[in-house]
Amino acid sequence: MSVQIRAITDEEFEAFRAHEVAKYAYEIAANYDVGPDDAREQADGHFRGLLRNGAATPDHHVRCIEVVSVDHDPQGPDAAPPVNAELVGYLWYSVDRVGGYAWLDAMSIFPAHRRKGYGRHALQALDAELRRMGIGGISLHVFGANTGAQEFYRRLGFRVTDVTMKRDTD
Ligand SMILES: CC(C)(COP(=O)(O)OP(=O)(O)OC[C@H]1O[C@@H](n2cnc3c(N)ncnc32)[C@H](O)[C@@H]1OP(=O)(O)O)[C@@H](O)C(=O)NCCC(=O)NCCS
Repeated sequence: MSVQIRAITDEEFEAFRAHEVAKYAYEIAANYDVGPDDAREQADGHFRGLLRNGAATPDHHVRCIEVVSVDHDPQGPDAAPPVNAELVGYLWYSVDRVGGYAWLDAMSIFPAHRRKGYGRHALQALDAELRRMGIGGISLHVFGANTGAQEFYRRLGFRVTDVTMKRDTD
């Protein structure tokens, strides 16, 4: 078993978009005083604004995260062992050409596949991809209520560079 990341296809893009908009809308509603409809509209606008040309948007890279396994019981001695690739999540990053710097716009492992090390391996594959591009690091934003993701990123060596706070008026 290994984890790979590969470029998303145009056919796969809509499923990724729907998944990420729903996730982002949920996070907006959970962290701000925003109803579900407004949260969805904001999430949709954010997404469309950044990924204007879908999978082909310049400087944006959308990746499918796949678990690859080889079937060791091929049909006949000369048959090549079939390779299965199962989609377990997505990641999306963008690159600032001037600064040679990457931003992790989104990352998800589907709920049924969490806590199996796939997120960790996907980020390791991303590191290798960034190194090949000559990029030395990556930053991201995580919502305050998403303590699980904060712990995940901390475990993987991310450190906090800024903190946004809010307080309701008395
Ligand atoms: C955050 C996320 C990507 C982690 O992916 P994952 O495949 O489950 O993570 P891994 O199994 O590789 O975890 C590696 C380590 O990170 C830490 N970790 C992962 N998820 C955690 C959680 N929910 N709470 C606490 N620690 C966590 C653990 O130390 C874990 O090692 P362990 O399982 O041996 O204890 C996944 O939970 C997810 O998709 N969440 C929803 C979307 C999201 O929040 N994305 C990030 C915001 S951009």
